[in-house]
Amino acid sequence: MPENIIIINCGSQFTQLIARRLREMKVHTLIMNWYASAEQVRSYSPKGIIISGGPDSVNDPGAISIDPEILTLGCPVLGICYGMQLIAKMTGGHVVEGESREYGVTAIHKAGGNSLILGENIPSTLNVLMSHGDYVAELPEGFKATSMTDGGIISSFEDSSRNFFGLQFHPEVISTENGSYILRGFAFKVCKCSGDWKLSDWVDGTITAIRKAVGDSKVICGLSGGVDSSVSAALVNKAIGDKLQCVFVNHGLMRLNEPESVMKEYESIGLSVKYVDASERFLSELAGVDDPEKKRKIIGRLFIEVFEEEAGKIDGAEWLLQGTIYPDVIESGTKKGSALIKSHHNVGGLPEKMNLKLLEPLRDLFKDEVRQLGKIIGMPDEIISRQPFPGPGLAVRCLGAITKERLDTLRAADAIFRDELEKAGLYAGIWQAFCVLLPVKSVGVMGDSRTYNEAIVLRAIHSQDAMTAEWSRIDYDVVDRVSKRICNEVRGINRVVMDVTSKPPATIEWE
Ligand code: XMP
Repeated sequence: MPENIIIINCGSQFTQLIARRLREMKVHTLIMNWYASAEQVRSYSPKGIIISGGPDSVNDPGAISIDPEILTLGCPVLGICYGMQLIAKMTGGHVVEGESREYGVTAIHKAGGNSLILGENIPSTLNVLMSHGDYVAELPEGFKATSMTDGGIISSFEDSSRNFFGLQFHPEVISTENGSYILRGFAFKVCKCSGDWKLSDWVDGTITAIRKAVGDSKVICGLSGGVDSSVSAALVNKAIGDKLQCVFVNHGLMRLNEPESVMKEYESIGLSVKYVDASERFLSELAGVDDPEKKRKIIGRLFIEVFEEEAGKIDGAEWLLQGTIYPDVIESGTKKGSALIKSHHNVGGLPEKMNLKLLEPLRDLFKDEVRQLGKIIGMPDEIISRQPFPGPGLAVRCLGAITKERLDTLRAADAIFRDELEKAGLYAGIWQAFCVLLPVKSVGVMGDSRTYNEAIVLRAIHSQDAMTAEWSRIDYDVVDRVSKRICNEVRGINRVVMDVTSKPPATIEWE
């Protein structure tokens, strides 16, 4: 068994982010639900325990709590936000409701002398992300405050004899200065982890878990051509071989020549893939729909319908494999306490009644980790370095009515944009670059004639994990070539504009 830090999840939207930060330090983590028993936790021989944040208030009747025996297991415990308040309450401290809730970046100041995890190299004043209503008003016996806010609130505490620590702020988010360093202090100085865990170990463990879960049944997988579904299929193929049957649904919303090239790549890695052309079915259900969420729901529903039809033809298919990765989970608001931003089609578009069980092996991973994983299991570069492409395809880039004609216009423009970026050697360095077709007509002049046509948007962004993004500063000469070619070569377009918005406030896709 690898060295573990167990994260007890009390419902925070940041729980997986804590796990990711520790993975980056090569420390293995296991996420367990708040109702896990001390016995279950002990069975993994953890080097340390982290109790996550959560949306509850510790004083509410029925608030989430943890098995009190967990605090007697003798290993170090770090409580983050709600987790800190829970430690305080369970060890005899006093937690009260603040007069106002505190969300955002706040300065804290080190206090109380030496601290094990707020070590010497951490400056005496830090900007940290706070997101809480309650606070620890009275320390439990044996604890000291190790930092305070300007308003005099305890922002961290510790009992170094028992190795109990609490942080009222979130060290796992990038906006907390030195956050990773603080987690590092907990993992290495306090828990004495050795930091020798590798993603390849995750692969072995996950393959074993997939085999165990699936048993003798079969898995059906909807491939989209994207990195996430392709890597999950290749991984599951390694685990269960031809008990995995893939289906590639051409929903008519792919980019130029994409269905053909994707099928060739799947063949090259030995996946068993059935090609289903459902484009007419999708396009006829999408006719006249211009509301983004309705489009997404229709596409999500149709996907599942098509899968179910295909699954019905495969004897013993009980599972549906999906390439859901962590940002999809957060943004679709499936965690208690997080708000819906967009219903990503791998998650939110699923109909309530579905006859297949879901297999989502990449659910805790971020995009760059999925790519690393693809490399580890020997997938070709063409697949793993492909830019992310949304499940609902061009539907969310074709604003307004979706017709075959408008999709063809968008495809032609998009192919030109990508082609010019490739020629300029820029495509590989960009996270996503694509065109959006706007249902907005403007006046132009071509030759001696007046035109009144729609507009194309060029969207190119840099990102690390798709949670935030910065628009790419593409060389103006390249932009100029793209603009000229689109107006000259794509019928129905007389204007090209560029999206210079980052995420937030915008999202990467337009719908
Ligand atoms: P947004 O537009 O939410 O996109 O900033 C974040 C990332 O997710 C991709 N995306 C999707 N991926 N199913 C997916 O598999 C979807 O429904 C979906 N919607 C957006 C988007 O391209 C970007 O990389």
